Amino acid sequence: MGRLFIDDIPVSFTEGMTILEAAVNAGIKIPSLCDMPGFRHNASCMVCVVKDMPSARFIPSCASLAVENMRIATFDTDIDQARHEAVSMLAAEHLGDCEAPCTRGCPAGFDIPQIIRLIADGDTGAAAAMILAATPIPETLGIICPAPCERVCRRKHADAPLSIGLLHRFAGHAVNADTQAAGIAAAKNKKILVIGSGPAGLSASFFLARLGYSVTIQEKDAKAGGGLRNALSAHGVSERCLDQEISRLVQSGVQIRAGEPFDFAHTAMSAQEHDAILVAFRIADDNFPDLDTHKNVFFAVHQDKPSKMAVRSGDAGKHAAMVIHTFLETGNPASPPARFDSHMHELDKKELSFFMEQASRENRVQPTLAQSGFSSEEACREAARCLSCDCSKKSSCALRDAADNLCDWKHRYRLETKKRYSRIDSHEEVCYEPGKCIVCGRCIQITEAARELTGLCFIGRGFQVTVAAPMDRPLSEALSKTAIRCVEVCPTGALSLKRKPKKEERK
Ligand code: SF4
Ligand code: SF4
Ligand code: SF4
Ligand code: FES
Repeated sequence: MGRLFIDDIPVSFTEGMTILEAAVNAGIKIPSLCDMPGFRHNASCMVCVVKDMPSARFIPSCASLAVENMRIATFDTDIDQARHEAVSMLAAEHLGDCEAPCTRGCPAGFDIPQIIRLIADGDTGAAAAMILAATPIPETLGIICPAPCERVCRRKHADAPLSIGLLHRFAGHAVNADTQAAGIAAAKNKKILVIGSGPAGLSASFFLARLGYSVTIQEKDAKAGGGLRNALSAHGVSERCLDQEISRLVQSGVQIRAGEPFDFAHTAMSAQEHDAILVAFRIADDNFPDLDTHKNVFFAVHQDKPSKMAVRSGDAGKHAAMVIHTFLETGNPASPPARFDSHMHELDKKELSFFMEQASRENRVQPTLAQSGFSSEEACREAARCLSCDCSKKSSCALRDAADNLCDWKHRYRLETKKRYSRIDSHEEVCYEPGKCIVCGRCIQITEAARELTGLCFIGRGFQVTVAAPMDRPLSEALSKTAIRCVEVCPTGALSLKRKPKKEERK
């Protein structure tokens, strides 16, 4: 048994232990990415870098043995900078899309490919639940939204973009009394007044109520809904769907006081009576009150440039709800940080062909129904055209987490030479996307430990090194026993399970 000092804390270790292992045993957190406990340390990512204090040298803690009386620092500005550079380099070399182009093109950032996959599977109920978790007005929005997401749909480069607007409308129309929107927090003893019941006000109220706040909407008109009612009649559609959506919001606990214009002369009193007030409509210019003195008054609508798109206003309402939540929890009205989102360039024909392999070749399906647009059968066929452009590990990727936590990724390095996208699909269950590989070597060690006949290995040298099966052997042979385990240990989406239709999984 020996002893070293980590951040001036005495930490004991046994012979053969690394600094990282000793730190973990003592409950001291050092970030790591490529290391896999119980296996050889490749020390390829340098995310676990720490400083040896006497020499001021940076060393990888996962591959450096603990030594008696060693003095180690795990954080300071130099170490932060070294980790930023390590992750920034990995992010710059990375070739893949965390989120699909359509999700980025949707002002509300809906997880469109996941909703579409559920429709393609025939699981309309789950698609409806997913869209209801993202907006209080799923059907209304599906009818009136001009679908800016379709302009950036990757499928447009092959033939025509997916009919995302109609698929959204189909899922929104399927929401019914049994549809459960996930995740409602326990009630908080805090009151919020939302002024205005257009898309921003409804959306903010919906998310605040789900966070457990007691929400009241004050609306000047006799009925809630604001400009959404005009938008529906401009589409020649009855307001019934909006009425149902507003009733659902009321059933979830939101109170609506319609026909009561807000008098800004009473702002001070209202600000005292409520934990927060959200102004969710545009105040006429000549009537603009001075609200700066009230720290708990927020705006969900840009007063100079209000959005004309309901989906954008709804997103502003959601954003305002999150800012209010942070303010009430911490006293600081901070916006939630954006997540790292690796972007691919526009793909050429060969690159696009990897995405087309799994999708239906049918051209855009034409709808026949008036209200919901697609019939179930048409929606399934249209959904089967989707290229599933998002990464299958977007929610669990360790590189994404590292970029969010350790790196100022908006200022990451940029590669001068463009890498080309490829995908290896020869294994029945597993898919390999080399551009997403961070060359950690975990999968190689798994195949070695299981004595795979072929296995995987490093190929090339220096910056050109990649991971592949030797001698161009197929992935099905390289991962004959270890495919699932390799997917589990792969920290990124480089190795992932193939997305199979549910019906096929059940066989
Ligand atoms: S592997 Fe991670 S960083 Fe790369 S595209 Fe997938 S989620 Fe994004
Ligand atoms: S093909 Fe599918 S996942 Fe890709 S951008 Fe279009 S709708 Fe989104
Ligand atoms: S495929 Fe995954 S596990 Fe294998 S080296 Fe690349 S990132 Fe690591
Ligand atoms: S975790 Fe230590 S070098 Fe990657």
